[in-house]
Amino acid sequence: MTILVTGGAGFIGANFVLDWLSAGGEPVVNLDKLTYAGNLANLASVSADPRHHFVQGDIADQAAVESLLATHRPRAIVHFAAESHVDRSIHGPGDFIQTNVVGTFRLLEAARGHWQSLPSGEREAFRFLHVSTDEVYGTLAETDPAFSESTAYAPNSPYSASKAASDHLVRAWHHTYGLPVLTTNCSNNYGPFQFPEKLIPLMIANALEGKPLPVYGDGGQVRDWLFVGDHCEAIRTVLARGRPGEVYNVGGNAEKRNLEVVHALCDALQALRPRDGGYRDLVAFVADRPGHDRRYAIDARKIRDELGWSPRESFASGLARTLRWYLANAEWVAQVRSGEYRRWIERNYEKRVPR
Ligand code: NAD
Ligand code: TYD
Repeated sequence: MTILVTGGAGFIGANFVLDWLSAGGEPVVNLDKLTYAGNLANLASVSADPRHHFVQGDIADQAAVESLLATHRPRAIVHFAAESHVDRSIHGPGDFIQTNVVGTFRLLEAARGHWQSLPSGEREAFRFLHVSTDEVYGTLAETDPAFSESTAYAPNSPYSASKAASDHLVRAWHHTYGLPVLTTNCSNNYGPFQFPEKLIPLMIANALEGKPLPVYGDGGQVRDWLFVGDHCEAIRTVLARGRPGEVYNVGGNAEKRNLEVVHALCDALQALRPRDGGYRDLVAFVADRPGHDRRYAIDARKIRDELGWSPRESFASGLARTLRWYLANAEWVAQVRSGEYRRWIERNYEKRVPR
């Protein structure tokens, strides 16, 4: 028995592979293109584990995926591979359409062929788990109810539109062809190995260097934050017990304004690595993100009531774990903040002069 993971050298995918193998899971074939966001250093601790088989390749290369499926005959595909950063999708949406939409389509086609070729028992047991985001539901006003699985899709960024498109393809491959799919729509993750272009690791890296902490707009946007290990456990739960064709929203019950997140991070960091005057005075309000969604919130009752999953970490405990990890892994941070990273930081922040 084997599973195929796509995007397993990225932030959530790598955490998933490490957790899966440390929990004694079956062998993993890990297909990743190694874009700027993919990093084999994330998988260093399993590099000698014979249960981990890494393959560099593109999910949009259908022939290559078909050959992998024929060789390894996985009983499930867990699909993380994507372009994942909203700000990058604003600067250059093309890669998002190519990987998130076309890539997911090609992967679904390869999966369908593989699934149809399986003998009946294996065909029934096969699962295609699609990892998606709460951003497909668009934005909420302050008092709106949280996103449930029946909230209408209303994506607002090129990233969320491309993820919404991929969710629709996954749904259609189930409805039309019977492919046994599962979809998870999760809120904002944070934790070890997150690329420092996203809010929490960017703020940690800047704070440690005494650089400004760039808060977009008024910092009043709300996100629901989930520790990555809890997300990985939710995915394992849905893979094991989710009903094919169903969607499960995954969230951390931790709605926070961005400024609250940055202040909490400054205060927690002050306790671990004190700085004269603290870190809060590094906060700099900068130009807002175009089309910035105001609020995301997740109603995670379905996965809790049907499958018994709920998050283990609170925001405070998850943030403390994350900070300790980044402090202990300064080399990892230095390595990923290489040439490509610097070019991105210049491109995204040069015009965001402090407000
Ligand atoms: P990430 O950007 O850190 O990693 C993405 C990985 O996919 C990288 O290793 C990259 O090399 C790989 N990849 C990109 N294009 C590829 C292609 N064409 N073929 C093969 N591999 C390719 O992303 P992440 O934050 O780990 O997110 C993983 C998944 O979870 C994504 O589908 C994302 O939409 C979803 N998600 C993320 C969050 C979050 O807060 N980060 C929340 C909910 C859902
Ligand atoms: P991000 O981590 O990019 O995730 P997403 O856009 O997918 O929610 O951003 C989280 C929030 O933090 C979002 O409201 C944008 C905001 N943000 C800043 O205020 N400053 C920054 O430098 C970044 C990267 C994000």
